[in-house]
Amino acid sequence: MDVYVALVTAIWSMLPAYVPNNAAVLAGGGRPIDGGRRLGGRRLLGDGKTWRGTAAGWLAGIALALALNRLETQAADLLAVSLPTFPPAVILALPLGAMVGDIGASFLKRRTGRARGAPFPGIDQLDFVVGALALAALADFAWFTDVFTLPVLAVVLLVTPILHIATNAIAYALGLKDEPW
Ligand code: CTP
Ligand code: MG
Repeated sequence: MDVYVALVTAIWSMLPAYVPNNAAVLAGGGRPIDGGRRLGGRRLLGDGKTWRGTAAGWLAGIALALALNRLETQAADLLAVSLPTFPPAVILALPLGAMVGDIGASFLKRRTGRARGAPFPGIDQLDFVVGALALAALADFAWFTDVFTLPVLAVVLLVTPILHIATNAIAYALGLKDEPW
């Protein structure tokens, strides 16, 4: 598989997992998921993980996957790459997995004494990828192995941190996010 095909396939297939975090930043606020509860003196998740942000992120990812399904034929023509469409279980799983991965990372951050918003290099960039891929594999393993071949997975792991750092820097510059990570 050439690099171009792997790159296009990776970005297309992960878009429903990339958008939820950004939608959560825009929509976040309100009641925290952990309801203020603590574990060992520290917040379970913290105020940065809210019901509204999580729901908005999940819905945004679902909406994007539905839109990509409709655009698949034209996009495949335009990019000269055969692109996957997203089956229903995957439409739900990719963005939910992204949100769950991010929430899991906050759980780990709080357990390791990191305050809300503190950076956790590596984890911050890949938590949602691991969550999204894991839930997508659970939702439809045949689709998952078909789309996420080794070269595509390699591109996802390389390109996602770059995209994540870039979009967060932009969100910070626009005043949408409190920290640039
Ligand atoms: N957000 C949310 N719900 C989520 C994820 C994010 O409401 N499930 C919103 C919050 O307003 C959060 C912002 O998006 O502050 C930025 O997300 P993130 O960087 O993941 O959270 P942090 O505030 O940095 O908190 P943490 O240290 O727990 O990652
Ligand atoms: Mg953060």
